[in-house]
Amino acid sequence: KMNTFIKNLLSKMTLDEKIGQLNLLTGGEATTGSVVSTGVESKIKNGQVGGIFSLTTPARIRKAQEIAVNQTRLKIPIIFGQDVIHGYKTTFPIPLALSCSWDMALIEKTARIAAIEATADGLNWTFSPMVDISRDPRWGRISEGSGEDTYLGSEIAKAMVKGFQGDDLSKYNTMMACVKHFALYGAAESGRDYNTTDMSLHRMYNEYLPPYKAAVDAGAGSVMTSFNDINGVPATANKWLMTDLLRKQWGFDGFVVTDYTAVNELIDHGLGDLQAVSALSLNAGVEMDMVGEGFLTTLKKSVQEGKVKEQQITNACRLVLEAKYKLGLFEDPFRYCSEERAKNEILTPEHLKAARETATQSFVLLKNQGQILPLKKTGTVALIGPLANSGSNMPGTWSVNSDLKNTISLLEGLKANAGADLKILHSMGANLLTDPEYQKRATMFGRDIPRDNRSEEEMINEAVATAQKSDVVVAALGESSEMSGESSSRTNLDIPEPQKRLLQALLKTGKPVVLVLFTGRPLTLKWEDENVPAILNVWFGGTEAANAISDVLFGKVNPSGKLTATFPQNVGQIPLYYSQKSTGRPLEAGKWFSKFRSNYLDVSNEPLYPFGYGLSYTTFEYSNLKLSKAKFKAGESITATITVKNTGAMEGKEVVQMYIRDLVGSITRPVKELKGFQKINLKAGESKEISFKISENDLKFYNADLKFVAEPGDFTIFIGTNSRDNAQAPFQLTL
Ligand code: IFM
Repeated sequence: KMNTFIKNLLSKMTLDEKIGQLNLLTGGEATTGSVVSTGVESKIKNGQVGGIFSLTTPARIRKAQEIAVNQTRLKIPIIFGQDVIHGYKTTFPIPLALSCSWDMALIEKTARIAAIEATADGLNWTFSPMVDISRDPRWGRISEGSGEDTYLGSEIAKAMVKGFQGDDLSKYNTMMACVKHFALYGAAESGRDYNTTDMSLHRMYNEYLPPYKAAVDAGAGSVMTSFNDINGVPATANKWLMTDLLRKQWGFDGFVVTDYTAVNELIDHGLGDLQAVSALSLNAGVEMDMVGEGFLTTLKKSVQEGKVKEQQITNACRLVLEAKYKLGLFEDPFRYCSEERAKNEILTPEHLKAARETATQSFVLLKNQGQILPLKKTGTVALIGPLANSGSNMPGTWSVNSDLKNTISLLEGLKANAGADLKILHSMGANLLTDPEYQKRATMFGRDIPRDNRSEEEMINEAVATAQKSDVVVAALGESSEMSGESSSRTNLDIPEPQKRLLQALLKTGKPVVLVLFTGRPLTLKWEDENVPAILNVWFGGTEAANAISDVLFGKVNPSGKLTATFPQNVGQIPLYYSQKSTGRPLEAGKWFSKFRSNYLDVSNEPLYPFGYGLSYTTFEYSNLKLSKAKFKAGESITATITVKNTGAMEGKEVVQMYIRDLVGSITRPVKELKGFQKINLKAGESKEISFKISENDLKFYNADLKFVAEPGDFTIFIGTNSRDNAQAPFQLTL
C-alpha cells in the first residue's frame, strides 16, 4: 500500500522530476569506469539527481543536500551511497577472508561498525553485501564475496544486511544495504571479469540464487544488477530476473540500481542504441541508472514515442522515494551530517580493537609441520619479501575509505609486538612481479609496494645473507591487494615467479621458513605445500592486519579460520568445489586414476586444500557420531551428535561442520552440501558434545520443475573438521 506522503509527492511531480529521481551520479572519489559524472551541482539544481555516490564527509554531503532541499522545486533529498564493503575507515578483512571466520555474530558486528562510521561521515546507503557465489579463483572478485558455498553464503548475506540496516533503517547510524551483483556475476566464463554466464535454471535456484534471496528476505532495501549476461540476456535488461523472479516470486519491495554505466554497456552487449537500451532496462525492472545518464537523457523521448509507459517511470520513482522515506530523509535530510559524529565515531579504539580481533579470526593456517608456529619471542627472525613493508597494501581491494597512511606494515607490526628479546631483520628479497607494467596494474589506488632496481640475483643474495643471520625466516609473499578485486582476473594462480625463486633460495639456507601468504583468492600452492614447513594464509586483513598477524604468529591468538573456497592443485582443475556431482563414472574411493572414469591423466581430482579446511595450533578429535533415530517423516526431525575433543596443549576454536548427501533424487544431487556449522571454543583437554537438528526443510531442493521439495529416501550425514575429513552415518526420510 502506497504511503500517503509519497502518493501526494508523486502527484505533484512532473515527468522530468520523476526521471531525475532515477539518476545516480558519482561525486568522483571512486570511479571504476571510463565515465565520470560532470556538472553535478547544476544537475542537482535542475532536479536531475536522485542519488550521489562516492562523495563523503558531512560538510560536502550537507552542501549537496542543501542544494537539493533548498533550491529545487519539490525539495526532495538525495540518497548518498558508497562502496562500504569491508568496513569504512576502520577496515576489516576482505569479505572472502571474513567468511573464513565462520562467525556470524562477528561478521554482523563488522557491518554494524561499518555503518556507524559511514553514517557518521554522511552516507546512508552501501553497495554491500556482495553475495556472488564463485567457484573460479581466476575471477578477481572472488575476494569480495563469501566463497563457493550456497548455505554459508546465505547465512553471511543475512548477517551483513542485519549489521548495516539494524532494526530501524531511519536511525542516524544505520544505512541501507544493496545486495549485489544480481545475478550470477561470480560465474563469469573462464573467470574473466564481466564475461558471459550461462547456467541451467535448477543450478541457479539450488546453488547461485539463494544468497541473494537470503539478503532480500532479510530486508535489504536495494539490489544492484550485474554486468554479465545470463543465458543470453544481460542482467541489466533482464525482465525475467528483475520482474518475474525478484519482484513477483521473491516479493522484493525495494529498488533496483544498475552497476556503473551498465545501461550504456547494453549497447556493447549488442542490444541497441542508448534510447533503446534505457527503455529496455527500465521496462525490465531497473529503477536507478548508475552514472551513465541513459535514463536522464532518453526516457522522456521514449514516453513520447510510446516505447515506455509513464506509469513505469512513476512506479520506479515511487520505489526510490520510498527508500528515502525509510531512511528518514524527508523528516530530516541532514540526519547523517554530523561533524561531531564524524570526529568521535570513526577509527575509535573500540573499532580498531574489533578490526584486530576480526582479522585474527580470518587467517587460515594451511600447514604447520613440526609446530614451527607459534614463533618464540626470543632469538632472531628474518622478515623477508616484497609484501613485508607495505602498510597501504594491507587493507585489500575495495577499501576506498581506508586510512592507508596510518595502516602499519607487517614489519612495523612485528616490531611493535615482538617484545625486547626478539630481534627482527628485514630484506625485501624480490620484487612483487618481474614486469614493471604488470606491477603498475597490480598496485593501483595508492597501494604501493616498494620496487627495487637491483638485479634479482643481488636481491636474493642479500635476503639469503639476512636469513642466515636468523633462527627463523618469515617470508611475506603472494599477491598485492590489487591483484584481486574488480578487473583483476588472472590465468596463472601461482605465487609470482620472482617471489617463488626467492622462497626457493630461502628454503635452501636450511632455516625454518614460515610463509605468510597475502592473497585475495585461492592460489595454486602445490610446490609450497610440498616444500615449505609452515603456511599461514592472511589474505588482506584490513587496518589492523599487521597487529593481528603478529598476534597469530606469536601465539597470542590460536588460528581458527577455515577456507570457504577450495584451493585447487592447479588452474586446470578449475572450477573445483566440494559440492560437485557424482557423474555416472565417479572415481572409486582411494584411487586417483582409473581408465574410463571421471578424472585427469596428470593430476588427481583432489583439491590441494578442501573447502572448510584450516589447522590450529592445537588438535581436535571427533568421535561417537550418533543419530537420535535412523528414520523420520516430514514434520519430525532427528538430532545428530558428535563429541569434539581438544587433544592438544592450547585452547582453541573449531568450526564443526555438518554436510548432507541426498543419495537418490529426481535430479542429480551434490555429493555433499553444507547444512549446518557451529564454531566452538575448547580449552586444552576439554571435550563437548555438539548437536545438529535435521528436519525436512534441510533436505529440500529445487527439482526439475523448480518446485522446492524434499524427496523421501536415503541420505548420509557427515560431521567433521572440513568437507573432506568427517564421520558419516546413514538416515532416511520416509513417507
Ligand atoms: O558497487 C560497485 C560495483 O561492485 C562495481 N562497479 C562500481 C560499483 C559502484 O562503485
